[in-house]
Amino acid sequence: MRISEKPVAARLKELEVELKPGVSLSEKTSLGIGGTTDELLLRRFDTIPEVMRLLANEKISYRFLGGGTNVLVDDGELPWIVLHLPTSQPGMRVEGNAAYVDAAADLGGMVTFCAKHDLGGMEGLIGVPGSVGGALRMNAGAYGTQIGSYVREVELYRAASGEIETVRGNDIRFDYRHTSFAPDDVMLRVKLELPSNPFKEILAGIKVCNEKRRTSQPLNQKSAGCIFKNPPGGSAGRMIDELGLKGHRAGDARVSDRHANFFINAGSASCADMLRLIDDVRERVHKSFGVELENEVILWKN
Ligand code: EPU
Repeated sequence: MRISEKPVAARLKELEVELKPGVSLSEKTSLGIGGTTDELLLRRFDTIPEVMRLLANEKISYRFLGGGTNVLVDDGELPWIVLHLPTSQPGMRVEGNAAYVDAAADLGGMVTFCAKHDLGGMEGLIGVPGSVGGALRMNAGAYGTQIGSYVREVELYRAASGEIETVRGNDIRFDYRHTSFAPDDVMLRVKLELPSNPFKEILAGIKVCNEKRRTSQPLNQKSAGCIFKNPPGGSAGRMIDELGLKGHRAGDARVSDRHANFFINAGSASCADMLRLIDDVRERVHKSFGVELENEVILWKN
């Protein structure tokens, strides 16, 4: 969707919103897949309610893009624009056992920053790619750690009220790769409470997790992490592997040889290729194991 020629563009500029026309989302997502649209960079939180009102009045659809590491975006010209909180110098500070972090911050960067202030607990999250906002929304987790355990407060833009609100950690449900945030809530900032631990010990934990991840996951290839959620008590990766599907492909979309729940863009895969592969693997798993796998990756299709 193109809005640079519309009158709303001038008003957005007054609100210090930067409009980037014709951005290819294949360059903004870790899968390297996605069509083209205009992007808005929202530099000031306080203008977000006004920006949202403007977009609603003009009937301009939008999606919020965080780190782009867990989305599968449709091909071609997209019928919505993308909003993004700029990631240069996101706020992070520590006060006692509390860490205050902007949602635009890199998740791994936040773990390291806290570690340097002798605050641990999140070692398992170190290699999870993406932004803090995305991690909050999905309750990102790995190696026994889930970000939700440490959340004390979230500042967010609530589309339902049109206001910026602060929600207490106790009022948010954090489940396995799922939270009680509304789909159109926009994460802005979080307050975490973390256990004290000397930097050296946290670093040792970080190294162990990095090593486990390096040996079991295809880190240097284009992926969105795990494609499917694990079914209760089971492992999607193990089931797909047992069916001999490593290397199985649809166009340039391919099941990783290293971890069968990672699907790779091995060249110039399209969203359609990736969806064909997802459906094919889901069907085969269902046929053999009677288990209906649920997507972990978020699909942005019209
Ligand atoms: N396995 C295989 N073959 C494979 C992959 C895995 O046999 O191709 C086996 C492993 O040997 C192991 C079991 O399956 O016995 C589980 O594998 P792994 O330890 O890699 O964990 P996972 O359940 O596949 C989950 C998360 C990952 C997270 C790791 C580490 C989900 C869907 N996946 O993977 O998260 O990094 O544990 O904690 O919950 C993600 O969310 O995108 C993600 C990658």
